[in-house]
Amino acid sequence: MSESLTIVAYIGATILFILSLGGLSHPESARRGNLYGMIGMGIAVLATIFGPHVTTIGIPWIIGAMVVGGAIGLYAARVVQMTQMPELVALMHSLVGLAATLVGYASYIDPAASANFSGAEKAIHEVEIYIGILIGAVTFSGSIIAFGKLSGRIGGKPLLLPARHFLNLAGLLIVIYFGAQFLKAHSVNEGMTPLIVMTVIALLFGIHMVMAIGGADMPVVVSMLNSYSGWAAAATGFMLSNDLLIVTGALVGSSGAILSYIMCRAMNRNFISVIAGGFGSEGGKPAAAGGGSTEPQGEVVPVSALETGELLREAKNVIIVPGYGMAVAQAQHTVYEITKHLREKGVNVRFGIHPVAGRMPGHMNVLLAEAKVPYDIVMEMDEINDDFGDTDVAMVIGANDIVNPAAMEDPTSPIAGMPVLEVWKAKTSIVMKRSMASGYAGVDNPLFYKDNNRMLFGDAKKMLDEVLVALKTA
Ligand code: TAP
Repeated sequence: MSESLTIVAYIGATILFILSLGGLSHPESARRGNLYGMIGMGIAVLATIFGPHVTTIGIPWIIGAMVVGGAIGLYAARVVQMTQMPELVALMHSLVGLAATLVGYASYIDPAASANFSGAEKAIHEVEIYIGILIGAVTFSGSIIAFGKLSGRIGGKPLLLPARHFLNLAGLLIVIYFGAQFLKAHSVNEGMTPLIVMTVIALLFGIHMVMAIGGADMPVVVSMLNSYSGWAAAATGFMLSNDLLIVTGALVGSSGAILSYIMCRAMNRNFISVIAGGFGSEGGKPAAAGGGSTEPQGEVVPVSALETGELLREAKNVIIVPGYGMAVAQAQHTVYEITKHLREKGVNVRFGIHPVAGRMPGHMNVLLAEAKVPYDIVMEMDEINDDFGDTDVAMVIGANDIVNPAAMEDPTSPIAGMPVLEVWKAKTSIVMKRSMASGYAGVDNPLFYKDNNRMLFGDAKKMLDEVLVALKTA
């Protein structure tokens, strides 16, 4: 394939990637967006393999690696549960970071790569290598820790080292100092020491940054690492002089940064504070620790599936608030069956979606779309939060943190300031979960003890099946 044909293919792939991002901005066009992305990636891979920079000897190696990688990817896609998606994504981000780091070292060591550059061009190439390895190493170690936290292998509690901001600042200054040493080096051997020191600091920084982040702020970290992985890919593109990789990396990097910003806004967090670590930890108390103004008082009132059915049947307005538990129980199809039944009986049923419900951005939207719930009754938090006052029943399905009034009422709560769905303002709220256990953020939920709240204990799918039977047989 000639150089010019490769460029044309790269431009085509870039356009498809942009259309893909546009498509992914709405559930209705998301499938099409995915398709554009897949076609774009197919074109990009083929144009690269058969492009002028890959020798014929290299092709069997690349195809062999693609078969192994593709088989692992296919296997993972088949066995990984929807609820494990965020940890899989975190693991994949770590691979992008590792690749950027390794490509950086390879292009520094490779005599053929450095022979192409001299003078200012050489300096620019070395800056690309240094920054590429820096971003790659932070992404790699940060993503591994995020994987550990999301999969429960590492506790969600933030690790707060004394003088952590000072440590971060000292790390930054050392990285700048060694960067200067690296650029001054006259040989690969001489440049290796500053490069290795910087890599170790970057790895430690990635670990420190994510370890210091509280459980409730993990959504921001996931999207932030997504952004980092994009910038790591862009840096690799600079190192390899591959325009498509630069553009694609920049698209992922900037869209990830925008998503992080949206997440921060939705959670009322300051982006810089989250990155600096320790947000959501100061003064907070864990679930069972007690103390504070929202110390749960009174008893919880359990309710049966039959009674839930009755409450729903008598209601005029119902808002369903799904959370992580609905995903675990795979209850979305029964949720829709109930919705359809109630709507046929003239009940106004809508869904209230919190931006960080579940374990990944858009988690609930994906599940509800899979169950064919019409988009026009799926409302975002801001659109529906004022309507709880006029609602007869707010049915919370496997959600906890996103309906926790402590976020609004208790300034010492680890989730203080995070906007939540105000289900307690409905005439009756029903919380469906298996026990009194806390949610992801590990904080107690005073909602459960409110006078107008009822608890329907059990697995969401099983309970909803019973509610559906109760509705249909009444
Ligand atoms: P959570 O606060 O995690 O609460 C989920 C509840 O579901 C749990 O309290 C659990 O209680 C219940 N549950 C689990 N399995 C169940 C089942 N089979 N049937 C019925 N209930 C079940 O979830 P949420 O309200 O959706 O809030 C999301 C949390 O995750 C937030 O803290 C958010 O910051 C964090 N987070 C979000 C993301 C993104 S991007 N969305 C990423 C990482 C972290 P029982 O054990 O008693 O059943």
